[in-house]
Amino acid sequence: MFDVNKIREDFPILERTVNGQPLIYFDNAATSQTPNQVIDVISDYYQNYNSNIHRGVHSLSQEATDVYENARQKIQHHFNAAQTHEVILTSGTTHSINIIASGYSQLLQAGDELMISAMEHHSNIVPWQMLCDRTGAILKVIPMDHAGVLDMNAFNDLLSTKTKLVFVNHVSNALGTVNPIEEIIKRAHGVGAKVLIDGAQASPHIKTDVQALDVDYYVTSAHKLCGPTGVGMLYGKEELLNHLPPYQGGGEMIAEVSFEKTTYADLPHKFEAGTPNIAGGIAFGEALDYMNGIGFETIAAYEHELLIYATAQLKAIDGLKIYGEAPQKTAVISFNVDDIHPYDIGSILDKMGIAVRTGHHCAQPIMDFYKIPGTVRASFSFYNTKEEIDTMIKGLQKAIQMLK
Ligand code: ALA
Repeated sequence: MFDVNKIREDFPILERTVNGQPLIYFDNAATSQTPNQVIDVISDYYQNYNSNIHRGVHSLSQEATDVYENARQKIQHHFNAAQTHEVILTSGTTHSINIIASGYSQLLQAGDELMISAMEHHSNIVPWQMLCDRTGAILKVIPMDHAGVLDMNAFNDLLSTKTKLVFVNHVSNALGTVNPIEEIIKRAHGVGAKVLIDGAQASPHIKTDVQALDVDYYVTSAHKLCGPTGVGMLYGKEELLNHLPPYQGGGEMIAEVSFEKTTYADLPHKFEAGTPNIAGGIAFGEALDYMNGIGFETIAAYEHELLIYATAQLKAIDGLKIYGEAPQKTAVISFNVDDIHPYDIGSILDKMGIAVRTGHHCAQPIMDFYKIPGTVRASFSFYNTKEEIDTMIKGLQKAIQMLK
């Protein structure tokens, strides 16, 4: 049985007040909150076995290495990667994408085509533009419609044997759209293209099976799913990662170094130069345990209830427009009210202790598409409640009165 009040006891931050009001945290798409279980493994690491991994013969180092590598296995099992070494631990989604973008600098030729979608986060646009600048490859964009749904016919038309790589987010951070990635992967593979899916916004809600998807690369960040910031995952198929040149040079990623020649370490270490975020990696594993303990289907069903509940109430507000109304969406609602600037609404809600995100959400092309400067975005998590949504609606109505 899902008991939201019991769940909320795991999150100490939900007890605090902001501007004299109980915190209502609706900025979960930016970062999720952290349960005690995850906070505890971080402090346990620093209190009891803080040491560098993969290096020392001493017991502490071996202990830390074992726990860290055990976390990698948890991540592998969660995403159903075939091999543990297909899981590269990175600093987050952006780092993961840049590893791939850097590697392909040496594998592409002028005139090759790369494809992104119209609803990507800047982190899944800019690295590919930089890659095009370095290689002479051409960037194509899969368009979307006004509901925030990708145009799959246009995708078909854009695909050709020139397409080498396709990059699409599993879920849009600004609109909540769940994209048809199974279909995208299948069609892209049909022309021999490889596919990278940005799973940052999907991972908190959907348990992804990378083998069933047959996806080539899948990336995400731990802090979106109850883990800490500064750690994330790059999953890649073994043969592709073996083929890809390393991203950063340094300790950890080498097999042998002399002044004449260096040979690189095997996966995953080839892509893990330098001392990693050890406590972060361990906490990433714990966060997955925590969320699996509740169950991703349970989480998704409850969040969907919150989405339906909030959408109906928001739509009843005069002049309020929701951006992103795909039939498949996560509990993210982007909206504006008449021509009130989103920042003004966000600032007044903040005074009431309600945290929403305002602005372009690192997805300026989406804002350009709708010809707006930005939106107010409320994004819900499984620890939010309908009562919190009621309070936000009342706060919003008050803000509108003040601003109109
Ligand atoms: N990409 C994060 C967001 O959507 C930061 O807010």
